[in-house]
Amino acid sequence: MCGIVGYAGPAAASPSSRPIDVALQGLSRLEYRGYDSAGIAVLDNGSVLQAKRAGKLQNLRNALGEQPVTTSRVAIGHTRWATHGGPTDENAHPHRGGREGELALVHNGIIENFHALRTELEEEGYTFTSQTDSEVAAHVLARDMEQCGDLTEAMRRTVGRLEGAFTLLAIHRDAPDTVVAARRNSPLVVGLGDGENFLGSDVAAFVDATTQAMEIGQDQVVTVTADTVRVIDADGAEVADPTRYTIEWDATAAQKGGHPSFMAKEIQEQADAVRSTLMGRMQDGLLTLDEMQIDEAVLRTIDKIVVVACGTAANAGAVAKYAIEHWCRIPVEVELAHEFRYRDPVVTEKTLVVAISQSGETMDTLMAVRHAREQGAKVIALCNTRGSTIPRESDAALYLHVGPEIAVASTKAYLGQIASCYLLGLFLAQVRHTFFPDEIAALMADLEELPDKIQEVLDNTEQVAELARSMKDATSVLFLGRHVGYPTAMEGALKLKEIAYIHAEGFAAGELKHGPIALVEEGQPVFVIVPSPHGRHSLHSKVVSNIQEVRARGARTLVIAEEGDDDVLPYADHVIRVPQTRVLFAALLTVIPLQIFACELATAKGLDVDQPRNLAKSVTVE
Ligand code: F6R
Repeated sequence: MCGIVGYAGPAAASPSSRPIDVALQGLSRLEYRGYDSAGIAVLDNGSVLQAKRAGKLQNLRNALGEQPVTTSRVAIGHTRWATHGGPTDENAHPHRGGREGELALVHNGIIENFHALRTELEEEGYTFTSQTDSEVAAHVLARDMEQCGDLTEAMRRTVGRLEGAFTLLAIHRDAPDTVVAARRNSPLVVGLGDGENFLGSDVAAFVDATTQAMEIGQDQVVTVTADTVRVIDADGAEVADPTRYTIEWDATAAQKGGHPSFMAKEIQEQADAVRSTLMGRMQDGLLTLDEMQIDEAVLRTIDKIVVVACGTAANAGAVAKYAIEHWCRIPVEVELAHEFRYRDPVVTEKTLVVAISQSGETMDTLMAVRHAREQGAKVIALCNTRGSTIPRESDAALYLHVGPEIAVASTKAYLGQIASCYLLGLFLAQVRHTFFPDEIAALMADLEELPDKIQEVLDNTEQVAELARSMKDATSVLFLGRHVGYPTAMEGALKLKEIAYIHAEGFAAGELKHGPIALVEEGQPVFVIVPSPHGRHSLHSKVVSNIQEVRARGARTLVIAEEGDDDVLPYADHVIRVPQTRVLFAALLTVIPLQIFACELATAKGLDVDQPRNLAKSVTVE
């Protein structure tokens, strides 16, 4: 939640547009993190200049006009997802700090002790112009700067005073070539350029300027100028060797490339995404997970797996349960991370916790990871964003390799998460000898056919698109499925709710008769995800019966079924075909028509598919 950018460049011979251009470009790349307001600040002729506007980044661009230039060597910027204080111009960041407004600061996170600090500062005569917790941090930092005269040391002291989660970036009129930053529980990366350096909530902020990045650890303070990057820890000691890495994503991956929306583009990228997740895993007949830093002997002692995740990632986790229990004979629980964290879960040293997160920054999931590790559990993270907090705090990390996901609604990461769960399940089966290596190789061979099958689905989307356009006035849509079709139904409903604002529910089809069938009346659209008739016959026939049950009560049935499955024909108003595959692997195919349905329907309603209302991509507050 909230995107932040920072830039430090060379002294301009004459006024330059570079700092502002970099900040605006970075914000446009991070706008998916929040779009309630946007703002930037620079230092011009010895004083802080800033502009900020409620609403999307375009409002800020309009306010700045054509090609603004500045003598500033530095810039900071912010795009907001509101927590404390509504989405107004006043509450937009940057916030000014100090009695003369000598400092500008942007913040991502929540400062939990802001109320006490605000009272203290007001008693000292500091005045506030917003309702935000962030303005408090601006004044605390300005006060620390006034006392010690060194911006890095001031930031270190400020970090010591703040409770909660934050990334802070600040510039000060007395340090004209410097951006100072710090983080606790919120993301921050440094981009290392040639004669210029960058800061961002994630690498998308600067990936078109540099591929070299540096991680910043918990409670560390980083001071950036055009030519230097210095990191200190909470005690003020120099961090000698901060982790550096090369960014694998190229800049074009973070652009729409001719598609009407990032979501449409990311849906179309799914065959390649899953191909990347699966790439290079079979070596000499064995499934190899190089990143698995948990000892195989430890993996053999595991007696329970708990998957923790939120939203779409939790739906991917629900698929993992069916696969891992079947292949490995280990009980698997799937928990929403926020529910796991604040009850008293039974977790021991023999529990393997699997944390699934596209961003690697979801605060609920991070807190669940910390809690699990405190109980002695081993944690493996399945994440997409390299260098993010969850993989760094886990015992091992398996990366999805699906490339940057920009649209708020998750699509290709969902498929990457499911594919990673299959890899993890098969790896555990190999380590724990519940399958012979040749059985695993056969399953992997089938799994490796999935990218082509995904492509087949993607090449035949017109029927679903047409259906979606014809249903743009629908007010309620139901989704039914059994086995891995159940999480698919949940995911189909989630996509429709979040981007098309249509009431939607996903049910286990077997649950229907226990209550939800009362919702069905004449014309009610019901999607049904049908498992392969070639898998477990009883499962297939049960779902076919469920279609009949809703149809008999007037439902309009939209059936997703395997090619050649003619049993569904008498009861389906529309049949959407997917290629044949194993029952377990079908989760990678059947969700795609549902993603397209939601995307097309929202587009037909004229909605902003990539930036749905009230949402942000990374939920970095609890
Ligand atoms: C829905 C969606 C969210 C995320 C959830 C977890 O389309 O994107 O439900 O799946 O916020 O996010 P990550 O995977 O980043 O932890």
